[in-house]
Amino acid sequence: MDKVKIAFIGCGGIAGWHLSHLLGFDDVEYVGFCDIIPERAENFVKRTGGTAKAYTDYKAMLEEIKPDAVYICTPPHVHGDIEFALIERGIPFLVEKPMTLDYALAEKICNAAEEKGLITAVGFQDRYLGIIEKVKDYIKDKQIGLVTGAWVGGIPGVWWWRKKETSGGQIVEQNIHLFDMSRYLFGEPTKIYVSAGKGIVDPEAAGVPGYDVEDYSSAVVTFENGVVVTLLTGCYIRDGGGVPCGLNIYCADATIEYGLRSYVKIRDKNGEQFYRNEGDHGIIEDRTFIDAIKTGDPSAIRSPYRDALKTLRLVLAANESIETGKPVDL
Ligand SMILES: NC(=O)c1ccc[n+]([C@@H]2O[C@H](COP(=O)([O-])OP(=O)(O)OC[C@H]3O[C@@H](n4cnc5c(N)ncnc54)[C@H](O)[C@@H]3O)[C@@H](O)[C@H]2O)c1
Repeated sequence: MDKVKIAFIGCGGIAGWHLSHLLGFDDVEYVGFCDIIPERAENFVKRTGGTAKAYTDYKAMLEEIKPDAVYICTPPHVHGDIEFALIERGIPFLVEKPMTLDYALAEKICNAAEEKGLITAVGFQDRYLGIIEKVKDYIKDKQIGLVTGAWVGGIPGVWWWRKKETSGGQIVEQNIHLFDMSRYLFGEPTKIYVSAGKGIVDPEAAGVPGYDVEDYSSAVVTFENGVVVTLLTGCYIRDGGGVPCGLNIYCADATIEYGLRSYVKIRDKNGEQFYRNEGDHGIIEDRTFIDAIKTGDPSAIRSPYRDALKTLRLVLAANESIETGKPVDL
């Protein structure tokens, strides 16, 4: 295939980010954009030269066109029927995280896609960071006991974020990136315990009526290899933020500071090495997906659906621990 025919379902914020990368590739052709808000799909048609068609119903879109692959960029609660419609038609997809808010549904999607032999990718963009490759390589032979990390800030603007029913809460929607990164770097988790709190965010004063997610939480995750990762998650900071989000990795003979999507500092007996993130790793994420579709070889995709399922299980177990007040064995 010379050009990969691409369609999008969901043309909001993250879809625009993926599109900005695809626009730099000369082997992508745009065939359809679907969003329940028509202007969003129409805007994507304009951005891509006007040859694609805009739709408000993805089923109608799939009746008319046969893309080689689809980007699914809908909110976390809008999944299931979309994936099955693609699987039925044998269309591979990249889906944004969290892939659903229902583990059983995600597992069904995963099994059905695999049965059809479809290429899948999940939007864990941080796995494509060059600075993370440095960390992964550096820690290969290191003894690690403790890791701490944080994603603490304010409340994102999209309407669905503030409700647990539609976003899953901040761990599931946002800090899922650091939970996934912990799996990517330290292996598989065996146990999670999370303590959470509410009461700092005033939904009316903050302009987020209906807000019902936790304001903050602290999760302790134990890994098979004994590493213990503590991850803070919070969305109540109004002023005075600026402590970097990211991870601190405490090795027996080194410490590593990962500033989220920004830098890595390694301190060891040789002194300090500093690496700044260069360029947009999302280009690599999208290039990898397009190349997989072109060649039929998915091996370079760093987050296939089957792997991402384990991260989804971990963050949903975090919610279970918050609800029950008990640790969850994985
Ligand atoms: N990988 C990342 O770093 C990253 C960053 C931001 C968001 N995300 C994820 O991407 C997803 C979308 O987030 P966003 O910030 O782009 O949200 P958004 O609200 O900006 O965009 C979602 C779009 O989907 C559309 N939509 C809803 N239901 C639809 C349907 N049935 N058919 C077609 N379109 C439909 C909405 O109208 C909206 O335009 C979420 O799961 C979010 O967690 C991932």
